Amino acid sequence: MKAVVVKDGVYWVGAVDWAVRDFHGYETPRGTSYNNYLVLDDEPTLIDAVNYEFADATIRNIKGIIDPSRIRHFVVNHIENDHASAAEKIHGIMPDATVYMTERAKKGLERFFDLSTWHIRVVKTGDTVAIGKRHLLFLETPMLHWPDSMVTYIPEDRLLVSQDAFGQHIASSARFDDEFIECYSQAELDDAVVDYYANILMPFGQLIKAKIAEIQRLNLDIQIIAPDHGVIWRANPGKILQMYMDMAEGKAEERVCIIYDTMWHGTELMAQPIAEGVRDEGVECRVIKLRATPQSVAIKEFWKARGTLLGSPTLNNILFPSVAQFLTHIRGLRPKNRILGAFGCFGWGGGAVKEAYEEFKRLGLETYEPGLQVLYRPSREDEGKCYDFGREFAKKMREYHASF
Ligand code: FEO
Repeated sequence: MKAVVVKDGVYWVGAVDWAVRDFHGYETPRGTSYNNYLVLDDEPTLIDAVNYEFADATIRNIKGIIDPSRIRHFVVNHIENDHASAAEKIHGIMPDATVYMTERAKKGLERFFDLSTWHIRVVKTGDTVAIGKRHLLFLETPMLHWPDSMVTYIPEDRLLVSQDAFGQHIASSARFDDEFIECYSQAELDDAVVDYYANILMPFGQLIKAKIAEIQRLNLDIQIIAPDHGVIWRANPGKILQMYMDMAEGKAEERVCIIYDTMWHGTELMAQPIAEGVRDEGVECRVIKLRATPQSVAIKEFWKARGTLLGSPTLNNILFPSVAQFLTHIRGLRPKNRILGAFGCFGWGGGAVKEAYEEFKRLGLETYEPGLQVLYRPSREDEGKCYDFGREFAKKMREYHASF
């Protein structure tokens, strides 16, 4: 995709990855984009690189605008491979540029490239550099979401280049929020934001709150937020900031998600009357079979719902592997303010439901107990118990939701 004007003198020069479906294990059904930005001023500046596979695409875009040897400044906001793996190749077209990054970025990047010939200036929060009519202001954002991370603000353009923050894994020809909403919908865009937050940023809610508060304290006037993935926020940057504040607070919808897997359909047969019980309590319920659903989608739906019921058959006295894998993933994401319960079928000794609650305790989340176990497959009587279990869980979830 050709370069796109973000505003006078500022260009998106990145690449759209229409095909990626496995982003380091995170399933990306919408693809993604790797965004970087060229700023034309007395001293032209490139902010960020792209994934290595797309180095030629961004170099072509840059060359379509300027002779790259004229670029005087190169900012590396974040060194994860999807952005920085092409940094060496891109640096090769502007070897005399000064390169800006945090101390931790330098330590990390030198594990990948020989930086001995690079003119590196290590920066920290508050450092600025004049590039002509404009200035670059750097703000470190450690652990948002890597230790090296920072963002770059251009006050004269009221533009924040926010690297991963506020991004979405979306491949589209729409480069801006308003364009995307016109072609698709606000709901599709919101869903992509939540998907990205849940899968990447969920563990960092407290840091996100603190960083947004710091930006507010600094009184930065932000008109455009330009992330390194997905669409650029120009129509309504306030909306994405508010969404992040809400998600960082752990806000959830008053709904239930049933996430399960099954061996011979017994646990699946439990999930149906449980869902009916939830719905008859007047609560929206989504049902997800793990082996039929990308894990990233299950994580997103878990995050959106205040309450989740986890269904697992017992295999060899413990959790079914796909359910255990899901819980391991969730443990790393450190969710807050959610309530959980568990159910499942067993053949002889049982164990999955018990182990699920042990995992819930490790997560430190609210639980609804006891769970529900059924021998082999639910009888008519068991189906009634499942229905009641769903209704009672929905009531408990609603009470818990009201406490926020
Ligand atoms: Fe998009 Fe943390 O890289």
